[in-house]
Amino acid sequence: MRLDKYLATVGLGTRSEVKKLLRKKSVSVDGEVITDGKFQLDPAISQVMVGQKVLIYQNYYYYMLNKPKGVVSATTDKVERTVLDLLVEPASNQKLFPVGRLDKDTTGLLLLTNDGALSHELLSPKKHVAKTYVAQIAGIVTPTTCEIFASSMTLKNGEKTKPAKLKILTVDEAHERSVIEITITEGKYHQVKRMFAAVGMKVLELKRLQMGSLKLDPKLKRGDYRPLSKQELAKLRHESL
Ligand code: URA
Repeated sequence: MRLDKYLATVGLGTRSEVKKLLRKKSVSVDGEVITDGKFQLDPAISQVMVGQKVLIYQNYYYYMLNKPKGVVSATTDKVERTVLDLLVEPASNQKLFPVGRLDKDTTGLLLLTNDGALSHELLSPKKHVAKTYVAQIAGIVTPTTCEIFASSMTLKNGEKTKPAKLKILTVDEAHERSVIEITITEGKYHQVKRMFAAVGMKVLELKRLQMGSLKLDPKLKRGDYRPLSKQELAKLRHESL
């Protein structure tokens, strides 16, 4: 790996900030001061220091993103902007991908990582990792709707769902609108929208609040992201075992 890429990846700033560090002769690799960003090193073997500080090369990265509308949960797309287009260095260099998918018009919690094993485990249908959403619904959600969702319901294409927990937050009878919270333990395509379609209602707004123990940080603005804390990551890892 090139030294300038390594330095940007471990969080020492953008490529141009990294260049400045190199020019100041602040960076050494295996005891030798290196000023050329093109210098090649092996992150698993080389000891890189900035000043007196030894850098730790972290192989895996984990971020929570507050996904805005209008971007797709993919790594590349020929037409649409993707969630990766929201990232700046160093995250944009870390080969991240989204864990699961949110629809283009869905907002909220999306985990980004380069840890394929953890992603695989969290998405495994066997793990039943719970996902909680808040949604605005066109229609009046009643306790009967909650009972239907709590039993195994059949979607329009005949697929059956696992029981989901539906909580009514507010109902505006005059405008036929409801705000609800729903927790599902599977990840079928457009699942929440299709569950409401099956009872003749439409999801107008959908936001994910939680995945397993990981809660969307209320301080994160739409489009912003931050690394997971050690505690958040430890809990997620535990759930994926
Ligand atoms: N269910 C949906 O319908 N859409 C999402 O983005 C997530 C869950």
